[in-house]
Amino acid sequence: MRSLIDILELSVEEIDELISLAEDIIAHPEKYRDSCRYKKLATLFFEPSTRTRLSFEAAMYELGGNVLSMASAGSSSAAKGESVADTAKTVSCYADIIAMRHPKEGAPMVAAMNASIPVINAGDGGHNHPTQTLADLLTIWREKGRFTGLTIGLCGDLKFGRTVHSLISALARYNGNKFVLISPVELKLPSYVKKDVLQKNQISYTQTTDLEAALPELDILYMTRVQRERFFNEEDYLRLKDSYILTPEKLNKAKKDLAILHPLPRVNEISVGVDADPRAVYFKQVLNGKYMRMALILKLLEVEV
Ligand code: NCD
Repeated sequence: MRSLIDILELSVEEIDELISLAEDIIAHPEKYRDSCRYKKLATLFFEPSTRTRLSFEAAMYELGGNVLSMASAGSSSAAKGESVADTAKTVSCYADIIAMRHPKEGAPMVAAMNASIPVINAGDGGHNHPTQTLADLLTIWREKGRFTGLTIGLCGDLKFGRTVHSLISALARYNGNKFVLISPVELKLPSYVKKDVLQKNQISYTQTTDLEAALPELDILYMTRVQRERFFNEEDYLRLKDSYILTPEKLNKAKKDLAILHPLPRVNEISVGVDADPRAVYFKQVLNGKYMRMALILKLLEVEV
């Protein structure tokens, strides 16, 4: 039995298999309509979510399965002081697979160690978000047709943005990629990601505060929201929140085949005027997330179609 806590638990071959499976689901959804019949997914979300939770639920329904979920974290026994370990043991009695989001880094890992069913990390604090990375990878694959030789700009809150940490880990395994890390000085990529992922694998990267200067060389621009809920004080958030705002004018300097991604939710960092630009693929990315979660559920439940 396998869980998914960190994207690196999937080999590059397994990522390729999940992408092929997602492509087959997109092409032949009817083949998969009953593949998780009588199976239940429990969504345990102790932090707000729109896309991740609903896409997991939609994924399970489209596979013919069912979903158990709590109205909110405040309505679960966690509010009475129950541990993550006990919650995981309990939910193992009711469901076949768990998707868990938690404000504490490592909580889904603790759940996986105690559950008798697979646990999927749906975001743990400012740490990791592997299934968002699966959505990002399918989007890059469909837009660019490759994971190699890309110049990837990551812009915004690189310190607290968990999607950025997982995506860098995933893309650092392919040859010839170059990262441009664009952030305010206070929100730079944590040194553990720089050391353990970029420097250890001798990946080429640059750091800058200037989005406009970096834009012309990028093949991919991954925008992120400043993660208000992880700040220690509101003043710092207010000062940093509008550090970057992507507009149609700024995009005039970008490549014609740039792909603009964003895990969403967007607050202010991409103006609505950009949405009509064919290079803006963040709503396609939302849909891709559902297909990759379908593929992942099939894999972890070991369902043969
Ligand atoms: C992201 C998250 O929760 O980390 N959202 C998502 O799952 N698509 C990004 C964010 O909240 O900024």
